[in-house]
Amino acid sequence: MAELVGAFAASHGPLLVREWETLPQDQKARLQAAFGELGRRISVAKPDVIVEVAPDHWSNFFLDNIPTVCIGVGETNDGPPEPWMKAFPHRELAGDTDFAMHFASTALQNGFEPSLSHRLKLDHGFCIPLWRMGLETLPRIVPMIVNSIEPPLPLISRCFEWGRLLKKAIHSFEKDIRVAILATGGLSHSIGEPTMGAIDEPLDRECIRLFASPADELLSYLEKELPTAGNGTAEIRNWLVAHGAAGGRGFELIDYLPVPKVLVGCGFAAWQV
Ligand SMILES: [Fe+2]
Repeated sequence: MAELVGAFAASHGPLLVREWETLPQDQKARLQAAFGELGRRISVAKPDVIVEVAPDHWSNFFLDNIPTVCIGVGETNDGPPEPWMKAFPHRELAGDTDFAMHFASTALQNGFEPSLSHRLKLDHGFCIPLWRMGLETLPRIVPMIVNSIEPPLPLISRCFEWGRLLKKAIHSFEKDIRVAILATGGLSHSIGEPTMGAIDEPLDRECIRLFASPADELLSYLEKELPTAGNGTAEIRNWLVAHGAAGGRGFELIDYLPVPKVLVGCGFAAWQV
């Protein structure tokens, strides 16, 4: 049977690539160390497959078709389409159709209706963390896109339930594979709106604190706070999927730092079996 070997989370702001060389040295060093530590822990966990939970930044979907959740079931997916991601070393990333189809079937059998795609473009939300973590070889990547970009957005509690469902799908998959979850996005940021660039450090720190508390407290805090937080903060939904899969047992914080130059409260966390 398949095994869940860890859940991990990292921010993915585009400026982590575009402004990388201009970041203050101390912040760059901390970000590099945090990504590196995540990469080290993922390497130690030896996953065959990473279910990567991230939003789509208009790379696959647009206003004519916005799935709330889309599972990538293809044998392969495309690397990032953004021109500024062209140095990312993978133009194509292997998927895992058998596991992804089992995940989708388990979802449907349990009252969850995802969209499916046999070919996705894995944009910066997927690829910046993979790149910065410096994994020598990439495990197979099963993408799970959660709409955390364009309202209406899924309930925070539903994202947590998706995580529980994902855990169930892993534990009921007949092949003997090791599966990790990597959630990307957040923490607080505000893009293309009047509060552009605002980082809400108190919200981020409270959110991090609540990851170690009973899940209900975190869920109700976020349901209350996210609607008035910066729009990018909604990406914390992806973390909730990983948190739910980990049984709501709390991420260990690897690092958190607000980085004004990349407009994001950058968070890195891990949960390991
Ligand atoms: Fe994003």
